[in-house]
Amino acid sequence: MRTGDEAILEVCDLVKHYPLTQGILIKRQVGSVRAVDGVSFGLRRGETLGVVGESGCGKSTLAKLLVHLERPTSGSIRFKGEDITRLSGRALKAVRRNIQMVFQDPYTSLNPRMTVGDIIGEPFEIHPEAAPKGDRRKRVRELLDVVGLDPGYVNRYPHQFSGGQRQRIGIARGLALNPEIIICDEPVSALDVSVQAQVVNLLERLQDEFHLSYVFIAHDLSVVRHISDRVAVMYLGRLAETGTDGQIYEHPTHPYTQALLSAVPVPDPRARDRRERILLSGDVPSPAHPPSGCRFRTRCWKAQEVCARDVPPLDVPEWFREGGGPAAHPSACHFAAERQVVPPEPVGPGEP
Ligand SMILES: Nc1ncnc2c1ncn2[C@@H]1O[C@H](COP(=O)(O)OP(=O)(O)O)[C@@H](O)[C@H]1O
Ligand code: SF4
Ligand SMILES: [Mg+2]
Repeated sequence: MRTGDEAILEVCDLVKHYPLTQGILIKRQVGSVRAVDGVSFGLRRGETLGVVGESGCGKSTLAKLLVHLERPTSGSIRFKGEDITRLSGRALKAVRRNIQMVFQDPYTSLNPRMTVGDIIGEPFEIHPEAAPKGDRRKRVRELLDVVGLDPGYVNRYPHQFSGGQRQRIGIARGLALNPEIIICDEPVSALDVSVQAQVVNLLERLQDEFHLSYVFIAHDLSVVRHISDRVAVMYLGRLAETGTDGQIYEHPTHPYTQALLSAVPVPDPRARDRRERILLSGDVPSPAHPPSGCRFRTRCWKAQEVCARDVPPLDVPEWFREGGGPAAHPSACHFAAERQVVPPEPVGPGEP
């Protein structure tokens, strides 16, 4: 689907700190976990924004903030121009209907004691205006059909389905209220590689059919390439680099993106031999004690003194600005430089 220019969602300097407490009877706050620490981006109507980063980078926290399962410590989330972090009561309920979530693990996110029909119809309990009582069963059957499942399965239980089918049920539930935005939190990470592509294809088809905008979260750049119009690379609560899929995959300028891309599987053996490998050593540091300056500096092979002192802003680097071209996109690095690590050909999930 063609994406419009209108920003349907604008996230500005979003922060979520969880208090870190000590003591059993009397709890004292001894610090905070900076799960999301100043994230800004826009999402246009009909667009898919891929958000990628290693485990523990704050992706799920970001997802929960966007669907209002968590309240931010600070910052704003504007839906069609209105800051939804300030809403409550009926106004909040109306907005929440429009921004739905598909969860990572279809094995744990579906209540095993509820039938598929009740799971998919559950949102109607909170939003009865979305489907009059007499119509709900019919609507649930329609939703099953839309996600490629037999409407006759309506009385079955989650354990009677495969992982891929369960995720289709989760997607049907996400669609029940006719949302405009769906936040997909690693929707295929728990699935076999062979079914990942089917679920991604289903999400793409539904996007066209229902004019949806997606934030599609993954820990692997190869998964989002297939579906994203733009990509945001996240590291330790912040965005490291943002750009169109061509800019991020073929002209990455941030060392973290380059390291992540280096781990992407390349199907063609000749291309595989030609490509440069960067080994990303160590783990993501604790968000309770993030490194000063650039958060990636403890794992960065290019780090210098300034990296420990000054936080690099997420901006188009000055030295790329004048020339324009594909390297001129936001990158939070004091020494942003182009480096091609993946041969320029699309790599989709599930391809051999
Ligand atoms: N409710 C919570 N209380 C305290 N810390 C949390 C909570 N939820 C997440 N965290 C911490 O925030 C960080 C980011 O977690 P998360 O958003 O789940 O990352 P990701 O989805 O990228 O793996 C992790 O260090 C995690 O332990
Ligand atoms: S700012 Fe410094 S430490 Fe951070 S990514 Fe760039 S070179 Fe590496
Ligand atoms: Mg997560």
